[in-house]
Amino acid sequence: MTVNKLILGDNLEILKGMEAESVDLIYLDPPFFSNRNYEVIWGDAGEVRSFQDRWAGGIDHYIAWLKERVAEMHRILKPTGSMFLHCDWHANAYIRVDILDRIFGSGNFKNEIVWFYHRWTNVSKTFQKMHDTIFWYGKTQNAVTFNKNGYAPSSHQLKKFEKGWDQNVVYLKGKKIRQYIIYNREKFEKNCKNIDGEARLVYRETTELKVAPPDVLEYSVINSQADEFIGYPTQKPEDLLYKLIFTASNEGDIVLDPFMGGGTTIAVADRLNRQWIGIDQSAMAVKVTELRLQKQADLFSSPYTVQLHKYDYDTLRYKDAFQFEAWIVRQFGGTPNAKQRGDMGLDGKAADGAPIQVKRQDTIGRNVIDNFVAAVQRFDKTLLEKNIAAKKPIGYIIAFSFGKGAVEEAARLKNKEDRIIKLVTVEEIIPIATKPAIGVHINEMEKDTSGGTSAGNRKIELTAAGQSAAGIEFYSWDFAYDAEKGFKPSIIIDKEGKQIVSLKPGIHTIAVKVVDNNGLENMEIIKLKINGIVEEIK
Ligand SMILES: C[S@@+](CC[C@H](N)C(=O)[O-])C[C@H]1O[C@@H](n2cnc3c(N)ncnc32)[C@H](O)[C@@H]1O
Repeated sequence: MTVNKLILGDNLEILKGMEAESVDLIYLDPPFFSNRNYEVIWGDAGEVRSFQDRWAGGIDHYIAWLKERVAEMHRILKPTGSMFLHCDWHANAYIRVDILDRIFGSGNFKNEIVWFYHRWTNVSKTFQKMHDTIFWYGKTQNAVTFNKNGYAPSSHQLKKFEKGWDQNVVYLKGKKIRQYIIYNREKFEKNCKNIDGEARLVYRETTELKVAPPDVLEYSVINSQADEFIGYPTQKPEDLLYKLIFTASNEGDIVLDPFMGGGTTIAVADRLNRQWIGIDQSAMAVKVTELRLQKQADLFSSPYTVQLHKYDYDTLRYKDAFQFEAWIVRQFGGTPNAKQRGDMGLDGKAADGAPIQVKRQDTIGRNVIDNFVAAVQRFDKTLLEKNIAAKKPIGYIIAFSFGKGAVEEAARLKNKEDRIIKLVTVEEIIPIATKPAIGVHINEMEKDTSGGTSAGNRKIELTAAGQSAAGIEFYSWDFAYDAEKGFKPSIIIDKEGKQIVSLKPGIHTIAVKVVDNNGLENMEIIKLKINGIVEEIK
């Protein structure tokens, strides 16, 4: 089973294709039966649909839909595995009784975790609804992983940990020192720099906890001011997933999120050195998650794969040769050769055992056919003769396209010598589409007069325009693009493709990506010199 993979598609079909007992932890955050559509609201262009949560057949329709998916999840969980199902008041009671108790067995119920957050609404006749429910079930009674001291235990301590730090006074060599205790490694490293002599900073794992943490977790909902805000509807806080994944899995374990959305589970699982698989039916979700991973440093999972429905010719054409060969043989239902050299030019075996050669080229010529026949002969003479006698293919050549010479020679071999060579184009195996086109318009605005650090800055309006037969999904910007580091998005989701930036004097390299509704992308890089005026460097 391939791990560290983002997969576009309806999760039911993909789950059915996964091996039984192959995953350690599942976290799912499906639509809640809220009878709403979730949009990415943008400017006056109005709403752009992200995903739907409306159920014509009411609760029974919803429960039936979710149940068949949970049944597959139960099948692919290891006996030591467990699952968190995130829901809320809309359907939690039905989900527990009609789905989880039925499929997992009430004996495997572990917790009904409450995620408590502050979100004030103008209700007047009921209490504010300020919590979600996360059901936790084990696959069996066997030892399910439980790292009790994960991250932030009690709600009181939560507040401290939520703040990410605490302080007290200690005496060092008789000197009174203010001490800051930080519980989040990242925040610790970030703050190390700005600590003055009168205080000291310590990083403390929360391993000292003797008792298991409470089942009420308090974390803020993610609003547009939050560092981790990406703009994906219903995005969950990383600290919440940190807590769940840290507690119920170990380094190297496989974590699956079949409703990955903006990729919070995947981003956190990677940071906790877990392997992961993410599925979503929306191309936007898959690409947003990919961009979120691109933003993260030192990825545990690199290289990871992104499986879309359509592929663009250029990305395939210039993919690493061996990676492409192995990948296309698998897509063809064959088994790629483990050996990459000295393989007699053969790259794998088809489901019927006949050899496969992959040519990452167009208009393959007659000579390729000649060489292939010789290679097949050397590969397995007995099999060759058996296939000739049975009028079965003696082998397959996969390429982007075949020239007249190759087609003629294959036909001659078949008619004159009963040697059937199947010529298969890449497009017959996977749907190929053209990636979107993109252009950027630069509009110099007035000097940035907001003073302070932006004295001398120039304000620039950047407008990206993408074209694709499939329609444009969103744009993403990297305002400090470095080709060596690759695309590191400063803004992950920009639905309009318009940005106003204030640039200091100097050279700036900006990259913008456009993503279309197939999930295919293209990138444009612009280089600007700011020196009183704005000059584009070609
Ligand atoms: C509530 S969101 C998940 C948000 C996510 N936890 C986050 O932090 O960003 C639910 C996601 O489920 C996806 N989804 C809904 N039905 C699906 C299906 N049948 N197969 C795969 N994904 C589906 C939607 O596209 C949406 O992205």
